[in-house]
Amino acid sequence: MNPNLQTIEALDDTYVLHTYARSKVAFIRGQNATLYDTQGQDYIDFGAGIAVCSVGHANPRLAKVIADQAQNLLHTSNLYYIEPQARLAQKLIELYRQDSDFTDPMRAFFCNSGAEANECAIKIARLFGEKEGRYKIITLESSFHGRTIASLKATGQDKMHQHFGPYPDGFVRAKDIDDIIHCVDSQTCGVLIELIQGEGGISPMDKKKIQKLASELKARNILLMVDEVQSGIYRSGEIFASKLYGINPDIISTAKGLAGGVPIGAVITTLTDIFQAGDHGSTFGGNFLSAAAGIETLEILREIHESGALTHTIESFHQELDNLLQTFPHLFNHKVGIGLMCGLSAKNETLQKDIITAALKHRVLVLKSGKGVVRLLPALTISQEEIKEGFSRLHNALNTIQA
Ligand SMILES: Cc1ncc(COP(=O)(O)O)c(C=O)c1O
Repeated sequence: MNPNLQTIEALDDTYVLHTYARSKVAFIRGQNATLYDTQGQDYIDFGAGIAVCSVGHANPRLAKVIADQAQNLLHTSNLYYIEPQARLAQKLIELYRQDSDFTDPMRAFFCNSGAEANECAIKIARLFGEKEGRYKIITLESSFHGRTIASLKATGQDKMHQHFGPYPDGFVRAKDIDDIIHCVDSQTCGVLIELIQGEGGISPMDKKKIQKLASELKARNILLMVDEVQSGIYRSGEIFASKLYGINPDIISTAKGLAGGVPIGAVITTLTDIFQAGDHGSTFGGNFLSAAAGIETLEILREIHESGALTHTIESFHQELDNLLQTFPHLFNHKVGIGLMCGLSAKNETLQKDIITAALKHRVLVLKSGKGVVRLLPALTISQEEIKEGFSRLHNALNTIQA
């Protein structure tokens, strides 16, 4: 018998710390971009667990790799060599370098989440600048880099810094890309940015400005760190959005979609010799389970990228978004985003909230981002039928909303 929503809710309420404003639904199974709730009702999932379920729910290839790995070995610790970890590092770096003339050596570090990947990036930058007394890291207004104390301080949203202080020193806030260079001083060691701010409204940065910034930072020997926790792993259409922008950052952090739902975080960097044994580490990071899941996830995504299937999915998805925008001009300003990290900017925050609630009622899951954006981050394997069905439900949902 399926668990009952009220029972789950009561247990959660009693025993789980109240850090989430949960919607009143519990899912118990999934199939690609479709989820099923406790009553067996289907939902089209345009959120993919906030960009995590990159190869869809219950992907048979990923499920088999995970099951096989679990029957063999899950974890030994980083005290010993871990073959899938080494192969995942190779695959991630080779896919990043593929079809580009960038051949600099790179190495990877594995952890368990986006915030941890950014912590690693911050530690690399601090170590890089240490001898010259450079420790400051510039981050952007409206950015989001995680919930640990350092990644929270790096996050450029004042409302998130009301508690938990004192925070570590050395984080400098720039208003926008143009302002970054004005914030540089003799103590700056790095700049940490998202190319498409995930929580800050899904608005992609300007490509020319990013390229100019990358070369200015290089000239000043300041590290460019790109947070691709959300935009990475083919969500933009390329393995990393950095490729679309034509830049080669010193450090890329990633997480979410990398192992299709198994917790993982990663950093890849050109500073191949920055750490000595003991400088950094993680008990779970890159263990057999997450690394094996990461390799299979990347392989599935590489295949749909190379076959052109991903491009086709992105095109259909954007066509549907354009239709929605044309049909409901009184609700939306414009389309936002790149690839399958996209959405529509609602006229105001009340509408944003109403749209997300109506969508849930019509059994299609969408997310919020920034002040007014309805964010869509579907599985990269979403089918044409799921796209059609999801947008048809969204149409019905939007028809119920009074502007
Ligand atoms: C750009 C970006 N960086 C960092 C994080 C934090 O990742 P995690 O929740 O896995 O720690 C997120 C999560 O939404 C993110 O979107």
